[in-house]
Parts: sequence; structure tokens; C-alpha cells
Amino acid sequence: MKNLRFPRLLVVLLSLVLGLVGFGCKKQSGDVIKVGEFASLTGKEATFGVSSHEGTLLAIEELNAAGGVLGKKIELLTEDDLSKAGEAATVVNKLISRDGVVAILGEVASSRSLEAAPICQLNKIPMISPSSTNPKVTETGDFIFRVCFIDPFQGTVMANFALKTLKAKKLAVFTDVKSDYSKGLAKYFKEGLAAGGGQVVAELDFNGGDKDFKAQLTAIKAANPDAVFVPGYYTDAALICIQAKQLGLNVPLFGGDGWESEDLIKIGKEAVEGNYFSTHYHPDVSSPRSKAFVENYKKRFKNTDGSPKAPDAMAALGYDSAMILAEAIKRAGTTDGQKVRDALASIKDLDGVTGKTTINEKRDATKPAVILLVKDGQFKYVETISP
Ligand code: PHE
Repeated sequence: MKNLRFPRLLVVLLSLVLGLVGFGCKKQSGDVIKVGEFASLTGKEATFGVSSHEGTLLAIEELNAAGGVLGKKIELLTEDDLSKAGEAATVVNKLISRDGVVAILGEVASSRSLEAAPICQLNKIPMISPSSTNPKVTETGDFIFRVCFIDPFQGTVMANFALKTLKAKKLAVFTDVKSDYSKGLAKYFKEGLAAGGGQVVAELDFNGGDKDFKAQLTAIKAANPDAVFVPGYYTDAALICIQAKQLGLNVPLFGGDGWESEDLIKIGKEAVEGNYFSTHYHPDVSSPRSKAFVENYKKRFKNTDGSPKAPDAMAALGYDSAMILAEAIKRAGTTDGQKVRDALASIKDLDGVTGKTTINEKRDATKPAVILLVKDGQFKYVETISP
């Protein structure tokens, strides 16, 4: 799948050129602080973008209600990247060169964060990904941060979960080769498994957005695994669970944070029951910050049927990403990119909805993972695993 790298590079280069052309019209009006956000509000991973956006928006509204930052209101400019490769670079360039934002919040999906990060780095605009877990995201440069754990940790957590909780020794791994997140998580899972004495008996690939997974699932079934790790996103994961059942592959399927969407249940129905995944947060986690957040979020946002909407991990991390940015701007006393960057790098033990955030020397956060079980059409909290 090497060929996929080329278009991304091309898009980034093209948008860098466009960004430089647009540089002249950069403006930041004096009475507000403009913050950019890019998210998959529509398309294949729409629930990721919507959740993350709602959490971010709630934080900005609360900050503004409390007087804003440095005596100014924050204006959140949100762009939809349509869940599409190429689009993240375009919209982030627009936010920086047309709108003159002082920082960028986003994205959930690692591939799209990886697309935007070089643009933010080049323009010296701090970028905070709320929930992209692939290590390469922050490796892009010293202006790129995240407020969540990374996949070497998540992969190890799920390898130990397979070995200890599922008591599985022989594992199959089914990877989305279109996604940096999926490829990374598969790699770290396999390393964790090898370290714990487990064995990979089948390794198969799919392309995110595929509809028919039966050929690969048949090969997986023939290898007779004890369980199947699917480090993919929710739509594909749900279809994979359905087709696995249809083929009589009756072993547990489990995944990482990419499974977390109500659409996993809507699409997968009983086929996803009894399956597990790891993620960053669950509203049942009891901390005063989390309780207040859940209450406020439910008041502010509704499900399509009008009932109060409970926040998920992306919403919680979106909220924390905006709060951390506000704290950094406060500490910097200015919106100057370099100074805000330095302030972000100095954040230690900052209390948030998803726990305490400490930005380490790689600009990542070290945080516990939670394991959730799909039961009776809901995500049930199982356990918290600390780094
Ligand atoms: N960690 C995933 C990625 O890097 C995105 C994600 C975060 C999905 C949180 C669900 C919950 O692509």
C-alpha cells in the first residue's frame, strides 16, 4: 500500500504552496482569539468528528461564559474534512492562511492528523490532536501535541487483555491497510503479544470502506484462532463482526478505540454483543470533573430522538484539548505561536475530564486506557488499565 503515501505527500506539498500564497491575507482581529478546528463532521467517520466537535464546543462555550482568555472571547472556526484523505490538508490551510487562527484543534483519526501536522509545523501554529494515537503524529515536529495516550501503549494493553482476560493464545489480526492508525495498532499489538508468549496464526488486510470481508474471514477461520483483533474503525468493525458470525467464526472479536461509536451497535446489532474494545474514557468513570462534564454535555447535546446525549471518549478528549490550549494561552500571556507552544510543552498534571494531562518530552500524554464491553446494546465499563 506504499502507493497511498504519494497522494498524501502531494496533497501536503500542494497545500503548502497554496498556504504560502494565501499568507498575505492572514488576519487576526484584535477583539477575539481565533482557534481552528478540523473534524470529520460528515462521511465515513462522522460520529468521531461530531463527538469531538461537541466536546470542543462545550469547552469553548464554558471558557467564554467565564470571560474568555486574556480578556478576549475565543472564536472557534470549525471545518469539516468529510472523513476524506486530502481534505484535512485543504481545510487546515484555509484556517491558517485565510482565517489566521492562532492554534488548531484536531483530528480524531491519525491519518488526517498526519496530513495536517506538517502544515501546522511549517506555519508554527500549535496543533493539538485530541485523540489521534499513532506515534508519528507528534513526531512530525515540536508544534504538534496530543492529549491522549499512544498506540504502543494501547497495543500492549489489548495484547495483555487477549492473553489474560480472553485467555487467547492464538490470535488473528485483521488490519485496515488504508489507515495509519490501524497499521500502527496492529504492529504494537503483535509486539505485545510476542512479549507475552502469544502467537499470531493469521494476518489479513482490508481497505477501510470495504463491504465484503468474507474471503479474509474465511482464511482467518481456517487458521483456527482463539480470538481476532480488528484494529479498525467502527463501520468496518461492525460489518466484520456480522460477516464473521455468518461464516460461523464464533470466537471473540475485539478492537481499539476506533470501535467507539454508537454506529458500531446500530450496524452490528447482536453480532457485536459480547465483544470488547479499549478506549480513553467512559462516562461512568467517577471524578468530579467528569461528572460535571457529563451533566453539562447532556444538557447541551441531544441524540437524534431528542433524548440527552451521553459523551464518549472523543467528546471528552475534545473538551480537554480545548481546555489545555486555553491554559497554555493564559500561561503564555499571548497568542504568539512559539510562546503558546512552549507553554503547551510545560503542562503538567492539568486536571481534566479524562484525568490529569502531563505533556511529556515527545508532546504526548500518558493516560490510562479503559476496556469496554458491548452488552445489551450499550458500552459497559469493564476496567481501567494504567500505564
Ligand atoms: N485513535 C484513533 C486514531 O488515531 C481515533 C480515535 C480516538 C477513535 C478515540 C475513537 C476514539 O485514528
